[in-house]
Formats: sequence, structure tokens, C-alpha cells
Amino acid sequence: MSKSITGFSKLSKSKKIDWIVETYFSNTEEAKRVLKQYWSTDEKLQQLHDEFIENTITNYYLPLGVAPNFLINDTLYTIPMAIEESSVVAAASKAAKFWLERGGFKTRVISTTKIGQVHFIYKGDFNKLKQFFNKTKSKLIQDSKAITANMEKRGGGIIDIELRDKTDDINDYYQLHASFETLDAMGANFINSCLEQFAKTLKNEALLFDGFYAEEKQIDIVMSILSNYVPDCLVRAEVSCKVEDLSDNDTVSGEVFANKFIQAVNIAEVEPYRAVTHNKGIMNGIDAVVLATGNDFRAVEAGVHAYASRHGKYSSLTHAKIENGLFTFWMEIPLALGTVGGLTSLHPLVKLALELLHKPSAKELMQIVAVAGLAQNFAALRSLTTTGIQQGHMKMHLMNILNQFEANDEEKETITEHFKTNTVTHSAVVEAINKLRVKK
Ligand code: HMG
Repeated sequence: MSKSITGFSKLSKSKKIDWIVETYFSNTEEAKRVLKQYWSTDEKLQQLHDEFIENTITNYYLPLGVAPNFLINDTLYTIPMAIEESSVVAAASKAAKFWLERGGFKTRVISTTKIGQVHFIYKGDFNKLKQFFNKTKSKLIQDSKAITANMEKRGGGIIDIELRDKTDDINDYYQLHASFETLDAMGANFINSCLEQFAKTLKNEALLFDGFYAEEKQIDIVMSILSNYVPDCLVRAEVSCKVEDLSDNDTVSGEVFANKFIQAVNIAEVEPYRAVTHNKGIMNGIDAVVLATGNDFRAVEAGVHAYASRHGKYSSLTHAKIENGLFTFWMEIPLALGTVGGLTSLHPLVKLALELLHKPSAKELMQIVAVAGLAQNFAALRSLTTTGIQQGHMKMHLMNILNQFEANDEEKETITEHFKTNTVTHSAVVEAINKLRVKK
């Protein structure tokens, strides 16, 4: 069994590494070498990365790729994507190119409201709590002015606070359910600071409220926290073209392609096993751009999947139809994103990614991210309903297999040429490498 340790967080980075390698590795020098080879030679840059999180021992690289040719509301974008999975960037690029020739993507931000809640326990008469809340609501907002002043100057702030009775779910459980406009900030810190202030005011004012009995005055705050479920922070992305324009080769007509594509979407709408994979494909695009732009992909993931279940059954995020000869494919998703604050002004690659995207506002970024998700789903469904996914995916994965077998440049060139006309499978690549090496 491994050792436990007290005071690890107080050790220097190099002492932390010493403890890790000595405790867990047989070849301590090799383990240290692997960790250190990912350090930046620029000490200031390395320190910046060290300080993003706690107990940092090295950097964990993800490739940053770009997908060009995205026409969104008549503006061309090259979209940065941070992701480890082969074929995602190629698929996004291919979909972008396809829709570039058909009018591009149309997007619209539907709403931008974010939510936070103070969860509390109150043992008493609900009518009195309502009276107390109505009397105290303006003070809740007033006491938060120091936090909200700057946001208000920019046009955002607290939109409303509601009292919610949750006693049908848990005895004596109530909420302050607050809505916020946070403009270009994702807003987590702003919202949480407001909520903690609401909680303080609520507790203090209850002690002073004459209408409460002694027990009713003792409001017990359980927690104050934003919600990553943001169904009112919604963006729509869409593509459409005449059905006959959907075909770009002679093997399948636009109509056959459209009908099969719509069937695939319909299956994901009704079948949760398929919907999860279908939506995973959408998140390939979304997460990659969210990460590249320094946003919180876990928050986005949690919120998007909750939204996909909002009717009580997990379902497809995208939809497709043919109406009057027009094929339309669209998605509405909740996205709480920021283009100021957090990593956006700290991480040099995030700054670069945002500049590449013409320094978008949060609303513009919502639209770009939604497009990346829609494009990804289009590419995946196009492959799935025509060639099958493996052909393109394995074509892109070929280099990973060659690297796994430490192929040199000459071997890579010969084998890549061979697989231009042969199907890539793991075993076929291994066989090709072996054959080539035996020949030598
Ligand atoms: P292809 O037709 O063989 O590619 O497609 P091509 O060589 O003819 O090139 C056409 C265009 O594709 C290029 O245009 C690029 O835009 C792009 P160009 O740049 O030449 O003007 N492209 C590339 N971009 C960058 N690097 C490359 C590259 N190759 C092509 N190396 C492709 C090949 C993989 C794009 C296609 O087969 C495809 O879109 N496949 C879908 C792949 C996919 O969805 N991958 C996601 C991972 S699988 C998954 O996790 C999700 C899934 O389970 C979700 C679901 O079930 O719904 C599938």
C-alpha cells in the first residue's frame, strides 16, 4: 500500500515531485524526466501555469487545432479547437467547407439569463416567510451594491430574486432563486458573491423581523451557489439548403441523403442509448472550443446534458426537417460562457484563440461554440449514414497507430500512401508495418 502524507501542499514543486516519484515509481529518474520534459523553458510562463491550479507538477498538453472556413452570419471564422481525439478537427473543417458553399451557418442568441440559489431551512409559517421576503427583497439587492455596482454600470446585474417553497420535496426547505445578467463574464464569481451576500442579509434580517416567533427567526442557510443549469441562456444555430443541393457526389441523391440523415436524427430524439452518443459527438465540437477559449467545459457539459433531459427523457440536442423542399438542421443549447475574467486574460493561448475569433463578446462566442457543435454532428451523421464512421475516423487515426509503433518518416510516408486506397484498421496497419520492416 502507498504511503499517505501530511503537509504535501506546503512542499516546494521539486520536493513534491521527489515524494511522488519515490513513492510510486520504480525508475525515479525516468519518471522525473517525463514530468520535466513538459515544463516550459520560459520560467515566467511555467510559473503562470504552475499557479493555475494547486500541487502542479507539470503541464498536460492537448493539441490546439484550427478548423477554417466557418461562415457564421456572413462572417468567416477559423475556429480554434483543443482536443485529443483524432478526426474531430477534420470533421468540423469538412462540415464548415460543405456549408460554406451553401450559405453558411445562421445563429441567434435567444436569452442570456443565469441562475443562482440560496438554499435554506425555515421552520414556520410560509405566509410569514412570504411577508418577510417581500419586505426584505429590496434590502437583499441594496446590500449587494458593492458587488453589483460595476456590473450595473456595464448594463448587467441582478434581474430578480424569487422566494420558492420546496417543502413538497424536503421538509422546511426553501430557496432564494435569483436571476442575473453577467454580460461578457461567465459570472460564476459575481453570482456566488451576490448569493453569499443575500444569505447574510436574509439571516440577519430574519433575526430582526417582528412577525416571526423565536424559532422562525433562526433561518438556517444550507448553501449559496450558482446553477450550471442555464435553460434561459440559450443559443440557436442552424443550416439550411434546398434538398437537391445536399448531394456533392453522384452516388447518393440529395433526397436520399436528407431522408436518411433525418431518420438518424429522429432515432436520437427517441432512443436515449443513441442520443447519448449523438450528443457526445456534438460535445466533441463544443468542448474543444470551450477549452480553447478558456471556459469551463464541465459546467457546459453538465448544463447541456440536463437540457437534453428537460422533457423527462434524455434526447437529441439537434433536430432536422424537410419543409417545402428545404432541408433544415438546427440546435438550441444552453451555454454560459465568458470572454472576460477567468483564464481569458491569463492564458496566452486562450488570448490568442480569442483574437483568432475576432475578440468575440460572450454572445458571439455562444454562437461560434454552438456552430462547432452543430457542424460536428453534421459531419458525424453524414459519415454514419453514408460510409460508416470508421473509414474517416481510422484514416485520421492512422498517424496515432504509426506513432505507437515508432514508425520513422519513410515508413509513415509509404504506409500513408498504401492506405489512400486501402481500408485502415488497427490490424491492417500493424501488418503493413511488419511487412515493410521484414523487407528491409
Ligand atoms: P474525407 O472526405 O476523407 O476528407 O473526410 P478529404 O481528404 O476528402 O478532405 C475534405 C475536407 O475534410 C478537407 O478539405 C478538410 O476540410 C477536411 P481541404 O482542407 O482539403 O480543403 N479534412 C481535414 N482537415 C484537417 N486535417 C485533415 C483532414 N482531412 C480532411 N487531415 C473526414 C475525412 C474524417 C473529415 C470525414 O470522414 C468525417 O467527417 N468523418 C467524421 C469523423 C467524426 O465525426 N469524428 C468524430 C470522432 S467519432 C465520435 O466520437 C463521434 C460519434 O460517435 C458521434 C455519433 O455517433 O454521432 C461518431
